[in-house]
Amino acid sequence: MNRKIIAYNFVLTEAFEKLDDTFDVEIFEGINPKTDSNFLKALQEAEGIVGLALPVDKELLDRAPNLKIVANNSTGYNNLSIEEMTKCGVMGTHTPGVLEDTTADAIFGILLAAARRIPELDHFVKAGDWKQHLTTEQYAVDVHHKTLGIIGMGKIGSIIAKRGHFGFDMNILYHNRTRNLEAEEKYHAAYCDLDTLLKESDFVCLMTPLTPETENLIGEREFKLMKKSCIFVNGSRGKTVDEKALIEALRTNEIHGAALDVYPTEPIKPDHPLLQFANVVTTPHIGSSTYETELKMAMLAVENLLAGLTGKRPKNLINTDVLN
Ligand code: DGY
Repeated sequence: MNRKIIAYNFVLTEAFEKLDDTFDVEIFEGINPKTDSNFLKALQEAEGIVGLALPVDKELLDRAPNLKIVANNSTGYNNLSIEEMTKCGVMGTHTPGVLEDTTADAIFGILLAAARRIPELDHFVKAGDWKQHLTTEQYAVDVHHKTLGIIGMGKIGSIIAKRGHFGFDMNILYHNRTRNLEAEEKYHAAYCDLDTLLKESDFVCLMTPLTPETENLIGEREFKLMKKSCIFVNGSRGKTVDEKALIEALRTNEIHGAALDVYPTEPIKPDHPLLQFANVVTTPHIGSSTYETELKMAMLAVENLLAGLTGKRPKNLINTDVLN
């Protein structure tokens, strides 16, 4: 019998060319993994899962007695209960190292779009409303020479700092668990505590992974510390922000605007209050979504999967202690 692999919300199936015919891949798209009977049946036999944002918790692990590896097709892995996986001897992998520039481009892009009101003014032109000079109410705010505060100075945060420093002559502040000396030296990024960053930045850009420590990191108190002229950018995960507090900060003009690529629930509902604000730029979690980069991620995810299923150490193993 062939060895079973589940592909969950995994779009670039050309990556499966890496698998030989001893494997059977069953593809699941847009299903509810808690209730879909075909998925639950496949779990009983599956040795490997490759995909995006599948919640892998104790309940799923209990239903998957043959599972050896879950290969995430993303760099973030907040969907994996790593501790439970390690207890069950299941490896978890992710895809760092191939998407950082692409994601930094996207996040810098929404920052620019919010500051220069690009989506709003695009609609204005296309609606045929551009009949005379712009009014002062339609003016935007500058990005160049402003202060960019980056919370989470990992690889993507550093590249955003690089874009800001070299491309836009920005002054860079950052807050991180540990100092990033390379970013300090190369991009003149200044380390500071969170409150100082919030008070002094014209753009606050959140790039931390979602962990118990970063859940709801930015809430009412933090929005109140920001300048009224601040544009808040979220390129991390939706749950790092208290969404109600963000809506309130926008409603009461506590901040100038926001640019969001991530949401606590994705896809965001069309009637969501955040979508009513003209000064909020939204994108559908597109950080890494270029064809070139998604293909590299898909290939890497399948390489990790294959290594785990053929007795090799996957390149991007998260729970390295699972091999002890
Ligand atoms: C990542 O790789 O974590 C991106 O956010 C896509 O999920």
